Amino acid sequence: MGKKITVTVIKADIGGFVGHSSVHPDLIEKARGMLNGNPILIDSHVTHVGDDLNLIMTHEGGRNNGEVHQLAWNIFQSCTELAKKMKLYGAGQDLLADAFSGNIKGLGPGVAEMEFEERTSEPIVVFMADKTEPGAWNLPLYKMFADPFNTAGLVIDPKMHNGFDFEVRDLIKNRKVIFSCPEDLYDMLVFIGAPGRFCIKRVFHRDSGDICASSSTQRLNLMAGRYIGKDDPVLIVRCQSGFPAVGEVLEPFAHPHLVSGWMRGSHSGPLMPVGLAQCNPTRFDGPPRVVALGFQLADGKLHGPQDFFADPSYDRAREKANFIAEYMRSMGPFEPHRLHLDEMEYTTMPEVTKKLKERFIDLRK
Ligand code: F6R
Ligand code: MG
Ligand code: MG
Repeated sequence: MGKKITVTVIKADIGGFVGHSSVHPDLIEKARGMLNGNPILIDSHVTHVGDDLNLIMTHEGGRNNGEVHQLAWNIFQSCTELAKKMKLYGAGQDLLADAFSGNIKGLGPGVAEMEFEERTSEPIVVFMADKTEPGAWNLPLYKMFADPFNTAGLVIDPKMHNGFDFEVRDLIKNRKVIFSCPEDLYDMLVFIGAPGRFCIKRVFHRDSGDICASSSTQRLNLMAGRYIGKDDPVLIVRCQSGFPAVGEVLEPFAHPHLVSGWMRGSHSGPLMPVGLAQCNPTRFDGPPRVVALGFQLADGKLHGPQDFFADPSYDRAREKANFIAEYMRSMGPFEPHRLHLDEMEYTTMPEVTKKLKERFIDLRK
């Protein structure tokens, strides 16, 4: 067995610039300074999408590594101090605990990680989204790893033809189930078609058992028991040589699908694929954005990034997303633009109901 590399992506919103739209460059600089040359890492890359600060790290410490998670926690804390000094918006909003207790899971920041033996050549894509939730990856992951109309390799590459296993998490009951596709496709769709509750956490290559994709599934609103912020998700995907090609991994985002999030985490809107230069949600705090950064790994070194959605071949997807955004906005406070009552992160329903209590007349009497 060769040596194993772990790719860990940890993100948090620790202060927005301006409002909830972006991350101030000083915070990115601070995070870079704390990661650069750190002896527990092989390499790192700091970036952002919208108001989320993303730390992309490689190391040999395995998943849920205490030292690596501690490092990320310390960075978010130091950046929060700076954000507070600059009075950035919502400074420290995703840091739910006062002290780190060995593992960053459950503390607020989002984590996606995978450990594997590097192949002869190891292309990976890191997806990062703002103003949406982890279930936003369900449809694209389904297309990448189970839909032959998206991924030609499922049909014509002998190394992919036996399909993939999907690990799906039930975020409400905190349990998981594995679906082996293509056989379990119809059963799986019953669940992953409800992305507010069931999320694809990981995908494995059936022939080899190798990990292919790993997402973050934290639900901040549930964890905190009250609204703290949308749990803008991240996703790592390995590509090529028996896994979907880079182009097959990017292809699902050519058709912007509707996701939950957007303004006040309480609206449905299209997920717009953008380059880093366009990743700051603007219209009605959106529409929700996704960035795709490609890296070639070499002994854990991150060669990249390639800012995939900056490409003109995604111009049409952006146009389409803008068209859908325009249409959805026209519905204002009505469902399905505004989310269903159970899914909204802001609500005045209890207060208004209380205020109008006397004015409601019971018709059953
Ligand atoms: C959504 C988001 C924003 C805020 C909105 C109101 O995830 O971050 O749309 O919900 O700007 O923010 P507050 O309540 O902080 O004024
Ligand atoms: Mg924010
Ligand atoms: Mg955000």
